[in-house]
Amino acid sequence: MVQLWKLVLLCGLLAGTSASLLDIRGNDVLRRLISGLERGLDTFDSTIEIIFQNLKTELESRCSDEVVEQQETENFLEQLISRIFQVVSRLTGVRIRNVQVPDITFEATSENSANVSIPITADVTVSLPFLGEIVDLDLNVDLQTTVSIETDTDDPQVVVGECTNNPESISLTVLHSRFGLLNDVVDIGVNLARRVVSSVVEGELCPRFRELLESLDAECVEKLIGESQDTTQQEPEGRR
Ligand SMILES: *[C@@H]1O[C@H](CO)[C@@H](O)[C@H](O)[C@H]1NC(C)=O
Repeated sequence: MVQLWKLVLLCGLLAGTSASLLDIRGNDVLRRLISGLERGLDTFDSTIEIIFQNLKTELESRCSDEVVEQQETENFLEQLISRIFQVVSRLTGVRIRNVQVPDITFEATSENSANVSIPITADVTVSLPFLGEIVDLDLNVDLQTTVSIETDTDDPQVVVGECTNNPESISLTVLHSRFGLLNDVVDIGVNLARRVVSSVVEGELCPRFRELLESLDAECVEKLIGESQDTTQQEPEGRR
């Protein structure tokens, strides 16, 4: 029975008629994700909070005056985002693996302000019931915000801007699909992946990014901006 139903569904899909059935399924997935995000993803995996605290400490240490010996430091940022996406994979069935986050980058826009970005790449596989894995995707997303130091008062304040989150800034490239590359099933898979990633950026990654930057004191941020000015001068061929 199931097999027959599967066949009927598949034929329908390939003919582009049952697309709405999959949309309903996609909305289920998103509902589960949103409720997970509302509870906080760290309630599913307590190491998320531990890694986040390590990341804060590590970023602060970059501002300390003592020259720390160039040791191989752990990439807490990558660990954090990998863990977050592991929870998301469990909640949604949209698997996000091989997460790579080289580093957080500061690009000075003036003496006391900078663009800050966290470039993320990962492999994404979207699966649906009965159909199994429908599409493999290459994910590229750049979390971006700004940080500046208000020096109007005696006590300089760190001001963190909005974190960009428009779904168009999430790049998803289709690598492979059992259904061919151009059809409704693939579109639905890509669309679902985009909505999942966008919800995670908005509900988890951006708030953490903000908290991370707000945890730094003005002196530290000044130093990070200063260092980025130095490197921009050495390498005028910056990114983009
Ligand atoms: C900072 O970001 C803004 C908005 O994305 C962009 O227009 C500007 O060129 C960036 N400046 C630098 C120095 O990267």
